[in-house]
Amino acid sequence: PAFTDYQAESATISQGVVEANHAGYTGTGFVNYDNVTGSYVQFTVSVTAAGSYPLTLRYANGTTVDRPMDVTVNGAPAAPGLSFPGTGAWPTWAEKTVTATLAAGTNTVRATATTVNGGPNLDRLRV
Ligand code: GCU
Ligand code: CA
Ligand code: CA
Repeated sequence: PAFTDYQAESATISQGVVEANHAGYTGTGFVNYDNVTGSYVQFTVSVTAAGSYPLTLRYANGTTVDRPMDVTVNGAPAAPGLSFPGTGAWPTWAEKTVTATLAAGTNTVRATATTVNGGPNLDRLRV
């Protein structure tokens, strides 16, 4: 299948900064979520056909503590409390996939940190 990549560093960022100091990212960098509850990255995702799609988030978590996030699509919960466990090191990236229903046209996909540790570092969303 064909995929479209949406880089986190090009998305809408609330309480986070674009950085490139840990290797292995794609595009031009990644988002370092502020380590606070509620920090988020929001992507605008376009598909031609409504339906169920895998959403794959590429992330790194160099700690040993989970960094769960709520994933919403068009404001509705798609994957509440999705786990982003430690990847072993900040330059070690992993992927988490959830399946969600998208509408034809543009959709907003938001990943919001739910703990005071903030989210993991986020590289991209692949749809
Ligand atoms: C380190 C790391 C950051 C990361 C942060 C965190 O500072 O360099 O990339 O975002 O830890 O704990 O969230
Ligand atoms: Ca951070
Ligand atoms: Ca990236």
